[in-house]
Amino acid sequence: MIKAIRGTRDLLPPDTDLWNRVEATVRDLFARYSFHEIRTPVFEDTQLFSRSVGEDTDIVSKEMFTWEDRARAGSGGASDAGLTSGSGFGGGSAPGAGFADGTGYGGGRGQSLTLRPENTAGVVRAYIEHQLDKVGKLQKLYYIGPQFRRERPQKGRYRQFYQIGAEIIGPSSAGSESPARDAEVLEMLATLLDELGLRGWTLQLNSVGCAADRARYNQALRDALKPVVATMCADCQRRAETNPLRVLDCKVPEDQPIIENLPKISEYLDDACRENFAQVRAMLDAVGVPYTINERMVRGLDYYTRTTFEFTHGDLGAQSAVLGGGRYDGLSESLDGPKAPGIGFAIGEDRLILALQAEGITADAPLDAYIAPLGEGMNPHALKLASELRRAGVRADLGDGTFRLKKSFEAAEKAGAKYIVIVGGNEVQSETFTVKELGTGKQELVARANLAEYLRRSH
Ligand code: HAM
Repeated sequence: MIKAIRGTRDLLPPDTDLWNRVEATVRDLFARYSFHEIRTPVFEDTQLFSRSVGEDTDIVSKEMFTWEDRARAGSGGASDAGLTSGSGFGGGSAPGAGFADGTGYGGGRGQSLTLRPENTAGVVRAYIEHQLDKVGKLQKLYYIGPQFRRERPQKGRYRQFYQIGAEIIGPSSAGSESPARDAEVLEMLATLLDELGLRGWTLQLNSVGCAADRARYNQALRDALKPVVATMCADCQRRAETNPLRVLDCKVPEDQPIIENLPKISEYLDDACRENFAQVRAMLDAVGVPYTINERMVRGLDYYTRTTFEFTHGDLGAQSAVLGGGRYDGLSESLDGPKAPGIGFAIGEDRLILALQAEGITADAPLDAYIAPLGEGMNPHALKLASELRRAGVRADLGDGTFRLKKSFEAAEKAGAKYIVIVGGNEVQSETFTVKELGTGKQELVARANLAEYLRRSH
């Protein structure tokens, strides 16, 4: 039997009903906060991620699904490297396979491509590529889609997972740098979780300062690590040299006491960043969004500046972060784009669903009616009635005229219908239908003209 690949999974009903409810709720919310959807490709040039997320991060150094694209036409048949040959899909194919001549892809070596491990880099690339800065207003963009990281699978951690994310990005003159944007994003997230009915969340908040603060903080970490780093794990030893901030991401239990005693980022913020963070906090206080300051939370991606945050949930075990985000004021420039400060977040949709389910929240959308034709000749009449009812907003399922009445009742029960509507010759003739409520056994005759309203009463 061929099975789904480790770390990937099928999403099935009734879970998908909850996924859809979440997505419908967020799309409605995004519209109210004036966000519009962006869809970027699922794979990108590998460099996009190494230059934005950062070479020393876990994501880029260990977790990306990267392959070299097929050698292109005219390259003399350099081997089909990476995924293609390694996966048994016709390895060693003829020279020049892949993009045929005339596609404009001729010549050159294969390009390194990566399945997106996150979507902020793709959004900023699109912002630069389409010159969205020229529009002159803030871009408020959201996305919903799969992301890919080669992590060790466990509950709440998958190799293909789904993010619901949003980014606010634009020229400073459009207000992109204002702490009001940070507060607006955090208030929106609190509202979303409230509207979904989720209760057990905590907002963890921090500021990682600007580039200059980070440089000073990195130096302080380097100095503090020097006498102790030899006892730490191999990743920490490397990162203490290359990017000491990333030492704070270390999960090795033996290293934790050392990490706890390292200098704190708040001591290295300059006056402007300190003031900026104070303003964000004051606005959250004013709007009543509760938060906890967590100075250890530097996030696992290099592009962050100033405000960073995560929403955690107590029922999720080790993978407790339901969502994460923050500001990235220098990201566009680091990808050769214009100055375009921004802030955004990504919700781990898989984890959000787990948290909702842990709190007993489901997406109840029960079937209103099961339409049961009495005899094969009644099939066309039943289809017509079902069509009328469905067009009038009734959630209806349609039986089959070959079913005996008993089987129709069983099918209606299995389908979770509230009512069963019997469609026999007399009913069609008289334009009046027998409707039985399955839970109570109560039976009534309802005129065709009133039927949709009658069945929809439970909504
Ligand atoms: P991130 O913290 O890497 O940030 O991911 C955001 C969320 O995605 C996490 O809090 C988690 O819920 C979920 N997630 C991450 N990895 C996995 C996994 N392997 N399985 C299941 N869920 C996972 C970002 O991706 C940034 N792009 C967020 C952002 C947007 N920052 C600014 N704008």
